[in-house]
Amino acid sequence: MTTQTLPRLSFAPLEGITGWVFRQVHQRRFPGLDRYYAPFFAPTTDSPLTGRGLSDLQPDHNQGVPVVPQLLANQAEAFLAAARVLQDLGYAEVNLNLGCPSGTVVAKGKGAGFLAHPQALDAFLADIFSRTDLAISIKTRIGVEDAAEWPALLAIFRRYPIRELIIHPRLRRDFYRGPVRQGAFQYAVDHCDLPLCYNGDLFTPQACRELAAQFPSVSHWMAGRGLVYNPALGRQLQGGEPLTPEELRAFHDQLVEAYRQVLSGDRPVLGKMKELWFYWSRHFLQPEGPLKRIRKAKTLLEYRDGVNALFRDCPFQEEGPVTF
Ligand SMILES: Cc1cc2nc3c(=O)[nH]c(=O)nc-3n(C[C@H](O)[C@H](O)[C@H](O)COP(=O)(O)O)c2cc1C
Repeated sequence: MTTQTLPRLSFAPLEGITGWVFRQVHQRRFPGLDRYYAPFFAPTTDSPLTGRGLSDLQPDHNQGVPVVPQLLANQAEAFLAAARVLQDLGYAEVNLNLGCPSGTVVAKGKGAGFLAHPQALDAFLADIFSRTDLAISIKTRIGVEDAAEWPALLAIFRRYPIRELIIHPRLRRDFYRGPVRQGAFQYAVDHCDLPLCYNGDLFTPQACRELAAQFPSVSHWMAGRGLVYNPALGRQLQGGEPLTPEELRAFHDQLVEAYRQVLSGDRPVLGKMKELWFYWSRHFLQPEGPLKRIRKAKTLLEYRDGVNALFRDCPFQEEGPVTF
């Protein structure tokens, strides 16, 4: 990555993790990311924006944070109804989820499951692009079962004015495991004029730099698990300092406080925080003992004891063994 063209890094949507509370606290502590893609919600025609989506995307929950809402849909009417509501709320772009690999989502022909129905996908895209002036970006996998599906899918995408095509170069059957299929991303770089964004296994600044060298025409990068693990990844890519244990602790403490204010009782707060330790524990050497206390904690008091022990007793490493 040259200093003339600093890479733009965005936060991938992570359902259950990067909701509005997390996004706000992260942006306050580690400013400078390009965008935060909100975890998906699934609109229906009758309820274009209810429940989780409504709270997560409410403008006063997202003030000053550059957020792109994400929709999981395979019916144009439902997509367009939600797009209208989001436009009225002030959003300038929506993202279509064509990547979710979960069994229940795929069984409904949504997320990565929509990729198994190229003709229906084509018709859906024709419909939505002709009926809204809201910018639409797409986050996609490269197929369901076989990488040979990718050229035909890409040929469909190329017919539409997609604001940005975010590619996670894995198949649905890969879920989040196994090597990223970089050949498929290279194919898109070679055969597609749409603005492209790369997503997948950007866990360290080094990994980002290597990929940026490999794909010099790409200027937008998206990280999910790597940014949870290292919330300072964006800063480091801009030439800034690596994450310190004090910063991680302060980020952690502010998140606990922010969740306490919006969730009722210890239990849901603990649920949110325990999930994060799946990622953060990799910064510590021999974290097993305190980590067990964290995982078993039933109250915030017990939880804090575990966290205190971890920061006190286990040496911190900027970059641990990073695979998830
Ligand atoms: C816990 C979890 C939740 C996710 N939720 C979403 C989601 O709501 N929408 C989406 O497009 N992708 C979702 N993803 C996929 C990520 O956005 C991303 O594509 C994937 O983790 C690969 O990027 P990474 O290697 O940088 O993490 C999720 C992934 C994980 C692990």
